Amino acid sequence: MNRNILITGGAGFIGSHVVRLFVNKYPGYNIINLDKLTYAGNLANLKDIEDRPNYKFIKADICDYDRMREIISSNQIDGIIHLAAESHVDRSIKDPFTFARTNVMGTLSLLQAAKEYWESLQEKYKGKLFYHISTDEVYGALALTHPEGVVAPFTTKASSEDDMAYGTEFFLETTKYNPHSPYSASKASSDHFVRAYHDTYGMPTIVTNCSNNYGPFQFPEKLIPLFINNIRQGKPLPVYGKGENVRDWLFVEDHARAIDLIFHKGKVAETYNIGGFNEWKNIDLIKVIIKTVDRLLGNPEGYSDHLITFVTDRLGHDMRYAIDSRKLQAELGWEPSLQFEEGIEKTVRWYLDNQDWMDDITSGDYLTYYREMYSL
Ligand code: NAD
Ligand code: DAU
Repeated sequence: MNRNILITGGAGFIGSHVVRLFVNKYPGYNIINLDKLTYAGNLANLKDIEDRPNYKFIKADICDYDRMREIISSNQIDGIIHLAAESHVDRSIKDPFTFARTNVMGTLSLLQAAKEYWESLQEKYKGKLFYHISTDEVYGALALTHPEGVVAPFTTKASSEDDMAYGTEFFLETTKYNPHSPYSASKASSDHFVRAYHDTYGMPTIVTNCSNNYGPFQFPEKLIPLFINNIRQGKPLPVYGKGENVRDWLFVEDHARAIDLIFHKGKVAETYNIGGFNEWKNIDLIKVIIKTVDRLLGNPEGYSDHLITFVTDRLGHDMRYAIDSRKLQAELGWEPSLQFEEGIEKTVRWYLDNQDWMDDITSGDYLTYYREMYSL
């Protein structure tokens, strides 16, 4: 089947994996990657597929409503996978307005532009979908009731024997929203707008809430790529607070596979949580990263341990996130393909093997290279 799919934020971390998957897997689809190329957007993430006939890049700001109307109608878009966002919590603490603008107003302008185009068609919303990618952070923070971790209270096909849980509560699709950071408040607001467009206008929408992603092409402001790069350079590793906060980590390609499955088989108006039952206390995760980087660089064990530096905690730092993704597993048969040990090894290797990609970012060169190439 021929489809015209708009993927927003496709030059970012998760978006680039989703674009790559769709371009490779669906040669009959036209994949349009719409991205503003903020500091977080990097077309080098898509070098391997940029010349493919079923791929097109458009530089645009989702907040530009007239532009969104023009792009959606001229490309006869029938499916939207919306990932474009400001995504870093620390930035949202310093500059909340940018987060409200992009995440709330940008999502609204995209929704309204899609509504206008789809309602103008004879078949209206038939065969259309607005799929909004959200985060587990909208649910707030869970308590750390088992500080040392216990075996998860339930096991799923997806979880390994020794998966640990640091509390008895998990985020369900029905968990009440309770965002704490300006980032999560802006994402929560955008989720509400998406659901409102379904409930008010009948637009076919789906929302998914995923846990922390890791893997290749993540911007090195986020914990894992930042720490891998700092260890390589012998720089301090700034651990917020005591490093006791817990996050639930999922390999990015598994998220992309879930998005593909839900885009094609998910039920309209539903919410699906995506996560791998893979909770790690920050400090324990950091020790695994150090050990892996040292081993792959040929350093003796413990060589980089001294880089751990405890620093002032993030304001309003959420203690624990933990996703219950059993609905997605039961209804659509999704499960993560990688165990964490394998995923983190693959990730560390990728960053060490792709030092040019990292250096282009840390030097700022990535900001000019593709913009010049595309005359942007
Ligand atoms: P990212 O910061 O790596 O990428 C965001 C992309 O959006 C960039 O390419 C950027 O240029 C683009 N963008 C930003 N503002 C834009 C605008 N106004 N118009 C058009 N494009 C714009 O983010 P990510 O980590 O890949 O996250 C992608 C989505 O997934 C976000 O919506 C985020 O909330 C959500 N999410 C992320 C995670 C995670 O762990 N990273 C987990 C769950 C959900
Ligand atoms: O849960 C999903 C979310 O995961 C996504 O919605 C966000 O877009 C994504 O950025 C991520 O948010 P986090 O705040 O959890 O990710 P980050 O990599 O910034 O931090 C992970 C943990 O590590 C968090 O507890 C803060 C801590 N941290 C982070 C950095 C950057 C440190 O201790 N030191 C650091 O330098």
